[in-house]
Amino acid sequence: MTSGYWVAGERVTSDATFEVTHPYDGSPVGTACYATDADVERAVAAADAVRREFAALPAHARAAALDHVSHRLSERAEEIARLITAENGKPITWARAEVARAAATFRWGAEEARRWSGEVQRLDTDAGGTGRMALVRRVPRGPVLGIAPFNFPLNLVAHKVAPALAAGTPIVLKPAPKTPLSALLLGEILAETDLPAGSWSVLTTTNDKAAELVADPRLPVISFTGSGPVGWGIRDAAPRKHVTLELGGNAAAIVAADWADLDHAADRIATFAMYQAGQSCISVQRVYAHRDVYDDLVSRVVKAVEAQGTGDPREETTKVGPLIDRAAAERVEQWVAEAVDAGARVLTGGVRDGATYAPTVLADVPEDVKVSCEEVFGPVLVVAPVDSTEEAFERVNSSRYGLQAGLFTHDLRLAFRASEELEVGGVIVGDVPSFRADQMPYGGVKESGVGREGVRAAMVDLTEEKVTVLTGVTP
Ligand code: SIN
Repeated sequence: MTSGYWVAGERVTSDATFEVTHPYDGSPVGTACYATDADVERAVAAADAVRREFAALPAHARAAALDHVSHRLSERAEEIARLITAENGKPITWARAEVARAAATFRWGAEEARRWSGEVQRLDTDAGGTGRMALVRRVPRGPVLGIAPFNFPLNLVAHKVAPALAAGTPIVLKPAPKTPLSALLLGEILAETDLPAGSWSVLTTTNDKAAELVADPRLPVISFTGSGPVGWGIRDAAPRKHVTLELGGNAAAIVAADWADLDHAADRIATFAMYQAGQSCISVQRVYAHRDVYDDLVSRVVKAVEAQGTGDPREETTKVGPLIDRAAAERVEQWVAEAVDAGARVLTGGVRDGATYAPTVLADVPEDVKVSCEEVFGPVLVVAPVDSTEEAFERVNSSRYGLQAGLFTHDLRLAFRASEELEVGGVIVGDVPSFRADQMPYGGVKESGVGREGVRAAMVDLTEEKVTVLTGVTP
């Protein structure tokens, strides 16, 4: 059956169908269709038309809808996890984790919708404000265009949709063309709610059509997650819009000399360098370990990486599945070859089989080759010794990216120094950079993006302050 797209809450199909195939073996997963120009126009016009009504919808109604989505995701969890694995290729265990996170993201949306309030500011702090006070509320900037990536086809869609619905902002969502089916299924669940028509649409469109949406003045906010060149291109193309970008990085973990449990650090590093075949913006790409612990750590990391079996992501035992497609695996293969030509040593891995790239650890990697300084988005880890924490901090900061960093230490003073000195959006103390809780602010500095996700943080981005000054009152 063809999965229809969603225009102002209604399921629609078109004749322009395309197949979604399994990244592991190319088997058919489903058929979707491109939204027609007329349907794209209907979705945008409906979002524009409903924006006042939606902003005025009581919080309890928005919260009830968000709670409903959360419950239904939990009820249909196994079916949805299998769909994510089928269209994205991530192992079923990680797909289940993604569904649980998406249910939590919508639950947080409901909670934040109930909490979302303004504040009172007293103005009588100077003589001119005597007898006045201000109500400061956050109101929607206007309908948002959400553009989601393939690597978390449900939860990164949830991070666009839940905050928008919670803040009373209509959303037109464009899922990734490689993985539209999870978002289209989410549409089925959204359609069970009483949200006003026009408050949400899910449009499978080509990237060319997305450029028109980016330019459309009826969508004054754009929330994009994906690659740097596309993200910065959107911001340059729409300088008058409020654009938030959640882009990539080459996340690093530092292992300080005081970290005694090297087995634990190695296990976390190996797992989160390779999870989802490295296709997460915060997968561990670089490790800087103090020379005192470097050799012991690296031998353990290599062992733990070798225990990460590749294979069919539908199998319960598979830890590392394919990349999104063969072209992605071939690119990783070329980047590793470039590093090896420049003197890098392959400690394990370094082979490709179709769309699957073996979990790979590289040492002696020059800092200016792509596996070091660009975002690999593949199962490749670069390890290097450092002589001091200062050196580790410098090397983390030498990146043009800055999403999250991890620091294995028990030293609280060092943890606070890292928090001050590392140029990233988040520092994870005692763990890898890959930790993310869906309610916490999440986003990067430098070329990793602008703005923050995490339900409440995204609601702040989707809204702006509006002041109402009351005169003749005592605050
Ligand atoms: C991302 O790839 O940016 C998302 C990571 C996550 O949500 O865990």
